[in-house]
Amino acid sequence: MNKPQSWEARADEYSLYGFTDLPSVHKRGAVVLTHGEGPYVVDVNGRRYLDANSGLWNMVAGFDHKGLAEAAKAQYDKFPGYHAFFGRMSDQTVMLSEKLVEVSPFPNGKVFYTNSGSEANDTMVKMLWFLHASEGNPQKRKILTRVNAYHGVTVVSASMTGKPYNEVFGLPLDGFIHLTCPHYWRNGKEGETEDEFTARMARELEETIEREGADTIAGFFAEPVMGAGGVIPPSTGYFQAILPILKKHDIPMISDEVICGFGRTGNTWGCQTYDFTPDAIISSKNLTAGLFPMGAVILGPDLSERLQAAIEKIEEFPHGFTASGHPVGCAIALKAIDVVMNEGLAENVQRLAPRMEAGLRAIMDRSDHIGELRGIGFMWALEAVKDKATKTPFDGDLSVSERIANTCTDLGLICRPLGQSIVLCPPFVLTEDQMDEMFDKLEQALNKVFAEVA
Ligand SMILES: Cc1ncc(COP(=O)(O)O)c(C=O)c1O
Repeated sequence: MNKPQSWEARADEYSLYGFTDLPSVHKRGAVVLTHGEGPYVVDVNGRRYLDANSGLWNMVAGFDHKGLAEAAKAQYDKFPGYHAFFGRMSDQTVMLSEKLVEVSPFPNGKVFYTNSGSEANDTMVKMLWFLHASEGNPQKRKILTRVNAYHGVTVVSASMTGKPYNEVFGLPLDGFIHLTCPHYWRNGKEGETEDEFTARMARELEETIEREGADTIAGFFAEPVMGAGGVIPPSTGYFQAILPILKKHDIPMISDEVICGFGRTGNTWGCQTYDFTPDAIISSKNLTAGLFPMGAVILGPDLSERLQAAIEKIEEFPHGFTASGHPVGCAIALKAIDVVMNEGLAENVQRLAPRMEAGLRAIMDRSDHIGELRGIGFMWALEAVKDKATKTPFDGDLSVSERIANTCTDLGLICRPLGQSIVLCPPFVLTEDQMDEMFDKLEQALNKVFAEVA
């Protein structure tokens, strides 16, 4: 076999890239990384990049947290793997479930483990289908989500995701309904106030439920702040407007906290930031600070009780993954929760979030081509526009956000292009100086690209 020589060529030859703009990677080559230092990652050529995307939102404690690696090693040494089937599970799994219920907004509840956020969403849907059928409502199967939502890539979670790219797979499946994205700046009508917009979103939900029939709808899933949709916080009062409608129609509300959970919005959960209590929470990513593939469904008291009763009837819940509740994953998650909540990481987000907002707002104010700054905590997006007054986007062929992100990479800053926005969601260990480095490099890249395209 004649192996290509460079790391970039080897990556190209033998790996399939997911969610990657191929023309761009063909032109520029892959970035092949060897290790990390705090919020920085280092490539095979020794170049350092400030990763303002925390890997994929998840490496919140940075890339070399000693305590997390030690917790993993200690558990690998003691009991390196097990499952959670047949009435057996590791002590770490027991302790993590207790901890997750303790830190959840629920007075009590139950936890089920998966390997990813996608699988946690699929698991939740199966739980709802099973539960409703067991309660005599087998037709209660439709799932409501929103346009622009991202819930994952497995067949069901991709059907929940409200993005057009899933059409290439012939998805969504039937019975997955996408409501309007509650993005006031982009979707508000001429002359409509934000409160009126929110009321319209609530009316749309109620009309949809009436049209489809509440007895056919299994559940409503929402991210508190849409992440991969381009960091879209809800319009004012959105959750307060929709929750009573769901409750009235007996439709469980699931908060997909894969990104928002464990500190990203400034509180433990995004639902706390937006002041609502869901019926269940989906967690992943920050759950293990990115050190282990793990997801969790955390059921509140009502769903826990009803699901338990449904399972008792048939004596077994026929669902689970080989590595559900893996002892090493659970040990890492226990440590990660402690690190985020008790080692000052959550406080760092709270303390520096206003600074991050102010710095990005100043960049927006100095630019003729940033139409909106949106976000909360340590998750922000700047949306590029050709014309600020009319919010007219740049021509898609110009690939403006990809060009900005590529220019940032050249300057040693990793940020993510999403639609025409640039997303910044740095690790929670970021310092003020590192934040300034992020602002400087981002602004240099924006100025360079806007000078080329405007
Ligand atoms: C809100 C949300 N839900 C679910 C997922 C899917 O998680 P995973 O990539 O671990 O399958 C993601 C991934 O980014 C996410 O952002």
